[in-house]
Amino acid sequence: MSKTMIVTGASRGIGAAVATVASAKGVNLMLNARSEDALNELARSLGVDPTRIVVVAGDVSNEQVCDRIVATAIERFGGIDVVVNNAGILDPIGTLDTVTADDWVRNLMVNVAGPVLLSQRAIQFLRERHGCIINISSGAAVKAVRGWSAYCTSKAALNHFNRMLAAEFPEITAIAVSPGMTATDMQVMVREQGEGRMPREEHQRFIDAHRRGELRSPDAVARVIVALGLSAPREMSGEFVTVDDPRVTSLL
Ligand SMILES: NC(=O)c1ccc[n+]([C@@H]2O[C@H](COP(=O)([O-])OP(=O)(O)OC[C@H]3O[C@@H](n4cnc5c(N)ncnc54)[C@H](OP(=O)(O)O)[C@@H]3O)[C@@H](O)[C@H]2O)c1
Repeated sequence: MSKTMIVTGASRGIGAAVATVASAKGVNLMLNARSEDALNELARSLGVDPTRIVVVAGDVSNEQVCDRIVATAIERFGGIDVVVNNAGILDPIGTLDTVTADDWVRNLMVNVAGPVLLSQRAIQFLRERHGCIINISSGAAVKAVRGWSAYCTSKAALNHFNRMLAAEFPEITAIAVSPGMTATDMQVMVREQGEGRMPREEHQRFIDAHRRGELRSPDAVARVIVALGLSAPREMSGEFVTVDDPRVTSLL
């Protein structure tokens, strides 16, 4: 029987790459992001049987959207094996004294409340199938990147939420993954909008890494995420791993 995976933030970047890799492995997909046209275009471009892919567009920090994501996956595919909590935003960039409270809280709504709300709704179905939740975290969860206080805080919270999932639900596997710098729009945003809003040397690190060609490809990161989602050992549940961790690359 084909496995079923929910991927949030699937309209571009790492999420779209996860959908592409999973689809090639015959996984049924429930794709979410706010941009409906981009999701439909991705679904078409994958060239698989349309009955294997379904799209629910909407903001993942909205409870009704999370209700619809899970209900649609169950209705269409009869169960859920993997949830990839990938949707995320970096904004606001700027030290705490320069950003608005609304923008700061909005970051936590998308990066933390989104994964919490979706996981909460999916958990009973994941337990039935001993499924897996992959929380897409960041090195920023454990490193203070100046100018990114909301983002860093949100990813640290996501890591602890991941540990909580592992502690409360031993039937499932919950893994938080740090992709490392990856060539997506989020990195373009850092390079283009970080100047003047992040300390100069902090911003320069991202410019230099890009210039030296050090960014990972979304495809390479996606292969690891899909491998973890489909075959992470239960003993790893609760862990925060990097994509080049040997225990992770051995699953490829
Ligand atoms: N790129 C990196 O270097 C890097 C490094 C570490 C961690 N990460 C993490 O990797 C994940 C994916 O990032 P990326 O680099 O692929 O970023 P990206 O290219 O900016 O893509 C972000 C995705 O999230 C979706 N999204 C944003 N807000 C949403 C919301 N409220 N509801 C539903 N979907 C939403 C976007 O689609 P719509 O705009 O259509 O909603 C898009 O599909 C994020 O969690 C990010 O924090 C990235």
